[in-house]
Amino acid sequence: MELGERLIEYFKWFHKNPELSYEEYRTTDKIREILTKAGVEILPCKLETGLVAVVRGKQEGPVQALRCDIDALPITEETGLSYASCQSGKMHACGHDFHIVSGIGCALGLQERREELAGTVKIIFQPGEESSLGALKILETDVMDDVEMIWGIHADPTNEVGMLGIREGYVSAAVDRFVITVDGVGCHGAHPDDGVDPILTAAAIVQALQSVVTRNVNAFQPALLSVTRIEAGNTWNVIPEKAVMEGTVRTMNREDRILFEKRVREIAQNTALAYGAKAAVEWIAGCPATYNDEEMVRKSIRIANQCNMKVVPEESSMGGDDFSFLEEKIPGCYIKVGTGKGQAIHQPGFMVDEGSILPTVIYLKELFLANKIKENG
Ligand code: NI
Repeated sequence: MELGERLIEYFKWFHKNPELSYEEYRTTDKIREILTKAGVEILPCKLETGLVAVVRGKQEGPVQALRCDIDALPITEETGLSYASCQSGKMHACGHDFHIVSGIGCALGLQERREELAGTVKIIFQPGEESSLGALKILETDVMDDVEMIWGIHADPTNEVGMLGIREGYVSAAVDRFVITVDGVGCHGAHPDDGVDPILTAAAIVQALQSVVTRNVNAFQPALLSVTRIEAGNTWNVIPEKAVMEGTVRTMNREDRILFEKRVREIAQNTALAYGAKAAVEWIAGCPATYNDEEMVRKSIRIANQCNMKVVPEESSMGGDDFSFLEEKIPGCYIKVGTGKGQAIHQPGFMVDEGSILPTVIYLKELFLANKIKENG
């Protein structure tokens, strides 16, 4: 069977058998089985789920990596595909099944062309991306220690097959979470003068928090804050003693990220004080913003042209990807791969056009093989 057909068959298997973050046991076994059969080396690293394959070229060159995330989402599939998920309530609705087979195809292709390959390529099948912290599992191993640059791909249902979204600079946001607890004094709803109302205080804090975006951040820098949950009270005639709210902050640059944490704390604590209450702020830092390195972007575009793929400017997203943890210390490039226009990712009708698999594999392979012809670029 041709490689392209084989990859489509694998893709259907992975799509049919989705597993949630950190439960990717069968997925990992299947990847290992396919790669081992083809003689691809698997690194002996301590990962509960996920694995790292390595192809060692016969020529001198850098150590590069490709990140492919492998987990699915708790969504019930509604695509009507013949190979739809057979795990109820679980679905590959973010195209990570496509990432898996792209990584497998790339490993198989490079393995066959080791004579030409300059340097080493590690293909990282990463668990738990949807938890936004799976990349940390990779960083707990020594896999990234010698990696000099890392590439990432993501399925993109806003573009046709054969199109790549590539752009220099920040392409996805840093993801932070906050929890604010307002302590007041509970009392009868008819006698608010006997207590301190945490709900009124929380409402004032919610309003004031939006001022960080419009009054503190440079208007040319994308940033946002969303309060996404408020909980207080349990009946109509009692003012509760406590209100809890939480939300998320998304920023593209480091200074804004620091600024937000400081301002959220100041606003929550001082607004609470103004209302006679007290506020405690818990700040939970997530992944940093994803930054695409200029030189890697130039190379990605050059290879795209060679492979007859059309390059469009990558759209920025205030969503995050934990790929950014892996490229925090080294240059990285995160490419959006057109997988056919359709429903957005994380939707029950999301689909990947299987025709996008082989061109993606060829592209990735050429990207890594292009090292030895650096002088041509
Ligand atoms: Ni994803």
